[in-house]
Amino acid sequence: MKKILILHTSLTGNTEQIAYLLKTQLDDGRFDITTKDIGYENIEVDDLQDFDGILVGTYTYDDGNLPYEIEDFHDDLDHVDLTDKIVGVFGSGDRSYSYFCNAVNLFQEQFKKTNATVLEHTVKVELYPEEDEDLESIRELGVQFAHALLG
Ligand SMILES: Cc1cc2nc3c(=O)[nH]c(=O)nc-3n(C[C@H](O)[C@H](O)[C@H](O)COP(=O)(O)O)c2cc1C
Repeated sequence: MKKILILHTSLTGNTEQIAYLLKTQLDDGRFDITTKDIGYENIEVDDLQDFDGILVGTYTYDDGNLPYEIEDFHDDLDHVDLTDKIVGVFGSGDRSYSYFCNAVNLFQEQFKKTNATVLEHTVKVELYPEEDEDLESIRELGVQFAHALLG
């Protein structure tokens, strides 16, 4: 069974809810799913080798930046080879800021350096995921991720 890691960080619960929706969608018996909140649980980039697929979720902070608690993990991706892994990225942001959901872009670019297969479709949700278009975007990420894993 393919092993999936759904990793996220969330300050007020919006990104956490996207992670929950993705887990619910993928939790149909085809995958062995592990979830982690990087704000509370330690995870090193070397731990990613244990998984076939990785979904990473983050909100965006100060001027389009990464949240503090996920910076080291992001930077450490410089030193890991994730060839043959499937990666998807999601997050929540707020359009009243200049760089909407830019942390999602930063992670997508960073994962591309690892030789992983990074899905082009990302999920960028305005605050809490409740609009139809957001739920559809989340569903699409789950479908593409599962398809990439199972071939
Ligand atoms: C100080 C501060 C700075 C922020 N900067 C950005 C930003 O640059 N871009 C963005 O899209 N959202 C920004 N946000 C909004 C959060 O990313 C947004 O509230 C998000 O839904 C939080 O997700 P969470 O509930 O998972 O913590 C900022 C929020 C705060 C409090």
